[in-house]
Amino acid sequence: MQELTPETITGAVLDQMSTTTDPRLKQIMASAVKHLHAFAMDVNLTPAEWIKGIAFMTEVGKICTPARQEFILLSDTLGLSALVNGLHDNTAMEEGTHTSLLGPFYREASPALAAGSQIAKTVKAGSEIVLYGHVSDVNGRPIANATVSIWQTGASGLYDIQENAAAIDYRGVFSTDANGLYLLRTVRPIGYSIPMDGPVGEMVRAQKRHGMRPAHIHFLVGAPGYRELVTALYLRDDPHLEDDVVFGSSGDLAVDIAPKDADCPIKGLPSIRFDMRLSRETAADKAGGRVGADPSAILKQPA
Ligand code: BEZ
Ligand code: FE
Repeated sequence: MQELTPETITGAVLDQMSTTTDPRLKQIMASAVKHLHAFAMDVNLTPAEWIKGIAFMTEVGKICTPARQEFILLSDTLGLSALVNGLHDNTAMEEGTHTSLLGPFYREASPALAAGSQIAKTVKAGSEIVLYGHVSDVNGRPIANATVSIWQTGASGLYDIQENAAAIDYRGVFSTDANGLYLLRTVRPIGYSIPMDGPVGEMVRAQKRHGMRPAHIHFLVGAPGYRELVTALYLRDDPHLEDDVVFGSSGDLAVDIAPKDADCPIKGLPSIRFDMRLSRETAADKAGGRVGADPSAILKQPA
C-alpha cells in the first residue's frame, strides 16, 4: 500500500474522487481539494488552528436563519461574492451595467408602486430626493415595462427587516415607461455597518477592518429577453467608497446627488440619475439563476 505523506495525499484524494460522473462536480471538487491542500501546506496549518477553523464555520452555520445568511456575509467580506459577480459579468453576451452585490436584505415580497411614489413611510425634513433613470439595451434603445426593484436603508442606517421582520419600508417595485424611464421619490441613503454581532463580525474586528458599506441603493432589474441585472448605485462622496467591507462599490456605479437637475422629471428636490443598460439574454442566462439569493430561500425550513 502507498504511504500517505503531505506530499502524496492530494493525489490520493483526487484518485479516489475520479469516479465522479458529473463532470462539473468533478472539476469543482478536484480544484477545491487541490487549493485547500495547498493552503494548508502554505501556512503549515496546525491541528489547533484546523479545529479553530472548524469551530468558526460551525458558528457561521449556527447563526443562519431564514432572515440571516452568515455564509453569504462571509463570502462577501472575503471578496468571493464580488469575484463571482465579476466572473458572471464576463460571461454576458454584451457589456451592460456591471453587477453589484444583492446583499442579504433583498425581499421578493416588495410592493408594486406607481411611478413617482415615495418608497419611505417616514421622510425627515431635508432628506427627500428623487431617483430616476433610463433602462436601455447596450445600444441605448429604451426598454419599456422593465421591472425595477429597489431597496435601501432608512434614516437609522438599517433595512426595514432589521428593525422589524414583518415591516416593508424603503423598498418598492417600479415599471419603466415607453421611454425606459423609472421614477420615484426616496430619502438620501446613508452608509451602514454590516451585521457585526456574529462570527463574521468577530473576524472583521480581528482584522481591524471598519465593517462599513458606503451609502448605496440596490436595484434588481428584469425585462423579457434580457439578462437580469442585480446592481447598486453608490454615493461618490461617501468616505468608504474606496474600501467597502464587501467589495461591492466601484467607480462605474458611483453617482452624485444633484441639487438641481434640469432633466429630472420631478422639480424642486435634489435628485440622483442612474441609467442602466441590460445585456441580451443567452440560453445559459435563462438556466443560470440569480446573482445572489433571498436568504429565506436558502435555508430549508424544518417540516
Ligand atoms: C447590503 O448591501 O445590503 C449588504 C451586502 C453585503 C453584506 C451586508 C449587507
Ligand atoms: Fe445594502
